Amino acid sequence: MQIGTTITQFLADEQRKLNTNQTDLLELMGQVVTACKVIATAVNKGALSGVMGSLDTENIQGETQKKLDVITNEIFMQTTERGGQLAAMASEEMDDVYHIPGQYPRGKYLIVFDPLDGSSNVDVNISVGTIFSILEYKGDSATPAAAEFLQPGTQQVAAGYALYGSSTMLVITTGHGVNGFTLDVNIGEFLLTHPNMMIAPDTKEFAINASNERFWEAPVQRYVRECVAGKTGPRGRDFNMRWVASMVAEVHRIIIRGGVFMYPKDTKDPAKAGKLRLMYEANPMSFIVEQAGGISSTGRQRILDVQPEGLHQRVPVILGSKNEVEVILSYHKDM
Ligand code: AHG
Ligand code: MN
Ligand code: MN
Ligand code: MN
Repeated sequence: MQIGTTITQFLADEQRKLNTNQTDLLELMGQVVTACKVIATAVNKGALSGVMGSLDTENIQGETQKKLDVITNEIFMQTTERGGQLAAMASEEMDDVYHIPGQYPRGKYLIVFDPLDGSSNVDVNISVGTIFSILEYKGDSATPAAAEFLQPGTQQVAAGYALYGSSTMLVITTGHGVNGFTLDVNIGEFLLTHPNMMIAPDTKEFAINASNERFWEAPVQRYVRECVAGKTGPRGRDFNMRWVASMVAEVHRIIIRGGVFMYPKDTKDPAKAGKLRLMYEANPMSFIVEQAGGISSTGRQRILDVQPEGLHQRVPVILGSKNEVEVILSYHKDM
């Protein structure tokens, strides 16, 4: 695939390659591309827009909502709801399933999304992102129930993320590899800049919020301890650590230069299995990571095989460079 191909041309070529007539998936991806462009503009305005800071409201996750959490959620919904490809949607920022308003046609896809990932970073001008996952809707109700969304990650038709960093990028998969596009603001188009992205199997870099160390399980404590021990420790080499607190930015760094990312099971809040959300964060990112040759696991199970039990379910996440994740998984087996 030629560098500089627009994302629209790329998706059309992809569809021809797949030899399907699924123009509606192509069209839906087009709507998502537009949503990410509009969100990029909103995020990029920063303090000039007057929408920095938090609201008084909490989302269903128990998180105080940033103004931009709510605004970007609205942008995503309004941009994608009227195209006729969606049966319903669900998001980190909405308690329940959002049904497509009666005046718009309905389609055969469900979309789940995290409109603003890493939103604690918006006020300090650090990278944030948008994550989405597309599933097929097999029923025929005009108001699909939450249960229709509870498909394991292996059922995803497409997934991707937008990264609003020093440049805006879109990284997508439809199950045939991972491709990255950079927004050319002069022409308003995403152009293919990172064809066939692959995660290096080996790495010396890990990402974890180390302030939670006392809450982790023994295998993760052991792994991090051994990394920190460096050259003279059991791993025999020095490691580097990064933590952006935006999953999109961490996963993107890992795809570009290798690494592992962990938000593991912990005892901080015994009611939760981890921090990250299976449907909005873990599944789409795991689909991308696997398509790029990496591994994504809860520590005990492949994330894409987890049978979801609720829209807002949380899950432990350990993902990234294949050989390094295998080390962490082997420590879980020793437990
Ligand atoms: P969100 O902003 O969508 O709620 O997601 C934040 C997530 C994830 O992006 C990041 O990896 C993690 O939370 C950061 O958590 P800590 O603040 O505990 O480091
Ligand atoms: Mn949040
Ligand atoms: Mn998030
Ligand atoms: Mn979010």
